Amino acid sequence: MKLGPLNHVGVAVPNLEEAVACYQEIFTPESISDVIILEDRGLRVQFVNLPTGQVELIAPMHDKTAIAKFLEANPLGGQHHICFEVADIHAAVADMEAKNIRVLASPRLGAHGTPVIFLHPKDMGGVLIELMETPKEGH
Ligand code: CO
Repeated sequence: MKLGPLNHVGVAVPNLEEAVACYQEIFTPESISDVIILEDRGLRVQFVNLPTGQVELIAPMHDKTAIAKFLEANPLGGQHHICFEVADIHAAVADMEAKNIRVLASPRLGAHGTPVIFLHPKDMGGVLIELMETPKEGH
């Protein structure tokens, strides 16, 4: 498996609207996406668009999400994961398993509408890594 571009850095935030306003005022980025709702995970997401990638601002919709647990430990919010693109998510899963890197769950659709997986931070130097399949042309 060949690692593709860094797609985004995931940042957990307690309040999505405040975080978006903060990035907007301080950095005046190219643009910020509309709110994306990941209903099955109980998350609301907005992407800050940069010339080389994105910052994914992630806020929980209820207390049962992994992001809510992260915010209990980090009440101000904080860097949560980094995401690299891969050409084929199923090939990536097979490659990670062959290398004894734990994959946290089966591929599921991420905020970009392509399948994603997460790798166990204990196998990756303490960093939660998301791998997402590169969106096909025109999507
Ligand atoms: Co992400």
